[in-house]
Amino acid sequence: MKDDDARKPEATSGVSRRDFMKISAVTAAVPLVLGPKVVHAAGEDVAVHGPGKVPVALNVNGKKLNAQLEPRVTLLDALREQFDLTGAKRVCDRGACGACTVLLDGKPVYACSVLAIDAQGAKITTIEALAEADKLSPLMQAFVEHDAQQCGFCTPGFVVATTYFLKQHPTPSADDIRRGLNGNYCRCGTYDGIRAVALAQAGGKQS
Ligand code: FES
Ligand code: FES
Repeated sequence: MKDDDARKPEATSGVSRRDFMKISAVTAAVPLVLGPKVVHAAGEDVAVHGPGKVPVALNVNGKKLNAQLEPRVTLLDALREQFDLTGAKRVCDRGACGACTVLLDGKPVYACSVLAIDAQGAKITTIEALAEADKLSPLMQAFVEHDAQQCGFCTPGFVVATTYFLKQHPTPSADDIRRGLNGNYCRCGTYDGIRAVALAQAGGKQS
């Protein structure tokens, strides 16, 4: 359960639902201006960005990447469209499938459900950084060997999620894997292969 909670947007973006509603209400009440603006609302100062582009600095795979982005741009769109990191896939684009999973400060998040502007200051790790130079990592290689993919759209998300899962659960049972990877969906139904990958990588036993 802890693993799944990590992927809820409010658990990772630093913006609670209440903050979001408050900011949304304030945004609606101020003129549309470019750049950050501070307004006083509900007894506190609230920074309002946009709606135009603002500078966004991200730490992705150990590199500092800068872009001018509208505050509404998701981390997934920033990665794919601004920085040409297309490993994380846009499938549902609504936090339901896990194809866009990346690590934010070491924990898996749905990149389609995190705003790029909120990911500033965090260490972002994408599937591109999990390969070993030009070679597949042992986990990636295991996906090939266990025939754990068909169309492949879900695969990068599963690889990232499995990497995190195995760090948290070095010797999982089959049930642990079923529960731990339940934030990712494969429409091609390659679950048996994916569970076999996790078991083989962990040296776990079927139960
Ligand atoms: S594309 Fe992000 S969860 Fe489906
Ligand atoms: S391999 Fe096609 S969605 Fe998983």
